[in-house]
Amino acid sequence: MTQAFQITRLNPTDLRLTAEALALVLMDCVAGGASVSFMADLTYEEAVGFWNHVADLAQDDGRMVITASDALGVIGVVQVIPAGVPNQPHRGEVAKMLVHRRARGQGIGQALLAAAEDAGRALGLTLLTLDTAQGGVGERLYSGGGWVRVGVIPDYA
Ligand SMILES: CC(C)(COP(=O)(O)OP(=O)(O)OC[C@H]1O[C@@H](n2cnc3c(N)ncnc32)[C@H](O)[C@@H]1OP(=O)(O)O)[C@@H](O)C(=O)NCCC(=O)NCCS
Repeated sequence: MTQAFQITRLNPTDLRLTAEALALVLMDCVAGGASVSFMADLTYEEAVGFWNHVADLAQDDGRMVITASDALGVIGVVQVIPAGVPNQPHRGEVAKMLVHRRARGQGIGQALLAAAEDAGRALGLTLLTLDTAQGGVGERLYSGGGWVRVGVIPDYA
């Protein structure tokens, strides 16, 4: 069966062109109660500004931003961010895994996670880390993908 969505790595220029669509995905996840740095009062302008800021950061730190899109537009995103310190050239972080509520439960999170792992390898990273809310769907996604839990931090967010 043909996959109904497409996975794409964005360069900083593409990311800026996609900032408004990504803002809608971020806002939908926040409206759905996701713990992804922002509070419920996040505005559209702030969300667009966040993605333009990520594009600036990508220019400097070489992070990869990967999107999932279907016929109606962008439905998901994830980032792979190199640790960026001299003693951790092998490590990166998987961050801001977001799938719009209209597209959940179809394997898009799993596809983005696999694409993030491929991107990590392409960046020469041999260790990826992430944090996620305990008991959330994210935890299921990551443990289902073979990720190993290393601990629980109370009151993290
Ligand atoms: C976490 C998230 C990215 C998953 O995206 P998704 O595209 O729905 O995930 P998938 O369809 O690939 O499913 C991945 C796993 O989660 C499970 N899952 C998906 N939606 C679920 C739900 N509502 N309830 C329980 N499990 C669910 C799937 O069954 C699958 O597990 P399985 O392999 O055991 O069947 C999405 O729910 C999301 O964006 N949440 C808000 C942001 C967030 O919490 N991000 C993660 C932390 S940074």
